[in-house]
Amino acid sequence: MRRIAVCPGSFDPITVGHLDIISRAATIFDKVIVLVSFNANKKSATFTEQERIQMILEATKDIDNVYVDCFDGLLAEYVKNVNACAIVKGLRAVSDFESEFQMALVNKKLYGGAETVFLTTSGENMFLSSSIVKEIAYHGGDISGFIHPAIISFVQQKLIHKHK
Ligand code: PNS
Repeated sequence: MRRIAVCPGSFDPITVGHLDIISRAATIFDKVIVLVSFNANKKSATFTEQERIQMILEATKDIDNVYVDCFDGLLAEYVKNVNACAIVKGLRAVSDFESEFQMALVNKKLYGGAETVFLTTSGENMFLSSSIVKEIAYHGGDISGFIHPAIISFVQQKLIHKHK
């Protein structure tokens, strides 16, 4: 049986922290679907769905068993539809824990066929978030250590354009 995992997130944009979790998940599962999903608590995204998908495709193109998809609905429903056995999330710090724990319990209640698996973020990415990357890029700072090389200029141009 092929073991499928779904790695959901806003990915607005994908960072090296996300990539670290995705590439480690790809060594554990047969297939990893990186799912652009929608967080009702986040008002509006900076990047469009298509832009986020394109950036993930570029950043993950060297990992054979990683696929990209987008779903504007309940994660539990998607996970069930694709017959995934796990939802993979990265945990950065204690501050992530409460909401992630809550989401894991809700997702389990909505669909009991998959487990949420938490991978601890690598030490060097503890501080990293899409919001921090956008803040730095917005002010014209160097984001090269935080974003895959293939998408740096796209992220910079989009945010600097907003700034001017
Ligand atoms: O990158 P984020 O914003 O922390 O990711 C959160 C996300 C998008 C994974 C979460 O909001 C989600 O799963 N959204 C899909 C809708 C859903 O299933 N909501 C209930 C989860 S408890």
